[in-house]
Amino acid sequence: MTYRLFPITEPVTHEDIENYKALRLTSLKIDPSSFSSTYEREIAFTPEIWAQRLTSRFKRTFITSTKDEGSISETWIGMVSVLGPSELIPSMLELFERVGVGSDWDMYILVGMWVHPEHRGRGLGTRLVKEGVEWVRTNMDPKNDVEGRRDKMVLLLVGDDNASGRALYQKMGFTDSTSMPPDGEGHSWMSLKVS
Ligand SMILES: CC(C)(COP(=O)(O)OP(=O)(O)OC[C@H]1O[C@@H](n2cnc3c(N)ncnc32)[C@H](O)[C@@H]1OP(=O)(O)O)[C@@H](O)C(=O)NCCC(=O)NCCS
Repeated sequence: MTYRLFPITEPVTHEDIENYKALRLTSLKIDPSSFSSTYEREIAFTPEIWAQRLTSRFKRTFITSTKDEGSISETWIGMVSVLGPSELIPSMLELFERVGVGSDWDMYILVGMWVHPEHRGRGLGTRLVKEGVEWVRTNMDPKNDVEGRRDKMVLLLVGDDNASGRALYQKMGFTDSTSMPPDGEGHSWMSLKVS
């Protein structure tokens, strides 16, 4: 089976949005404990909200897809999104400020990491994280223009009992964050410095 890995870039098509929505809802349904959001919350999203998720210039979503032999259409089977500093919501920025993280770093957050169970263990999760980190390395967030070139840090929340997720991130160089407190719901932060 062959796989393709690609970023969703402008212009975002209606088909991109439909494929993304189907993939995200499937991930929430199959692995509810891996995410902070829920299927019930996101099934109620309007088309505008789904479109917004993909059209921000300050984040990037990477997809892995597969195509059956002889078929012309691809099926999206894995994804990860990386939020840049300009995409972070106020509550997240407040948390960073409270714990004294982020004043010296440009903070990026990796979210929504998921590979369909039928395609796990084939290196797709590794490839998705690699692409996300590479985007961080090369991305110029508008905050750089205001605050000057700074080092970057990628943060992610992972379930304490998520052995495969933790193993994947550790393999990619992430370590348990010493500054960010656990969320109190069984998830802890891991971080990676990117220069
Ligand atoms: C975590 C996840 C994305 C890994 O995807 P994947 O495509 O299977 O990952 P890979 O094949 O690249 O494997 C990467 C590493 O993960 C670890 N891993 C994979 N499957 C594992 C398993 N069943 N048990 C323990 N470790 C495992 C291994 O360290 C592996 O590296 P190795 O093959 O060099 O030993 C996938 O299991 C998943 O979508 N899980 C549900 C959602 C989730 O937990 N997301 C993360 C939330 S933070």
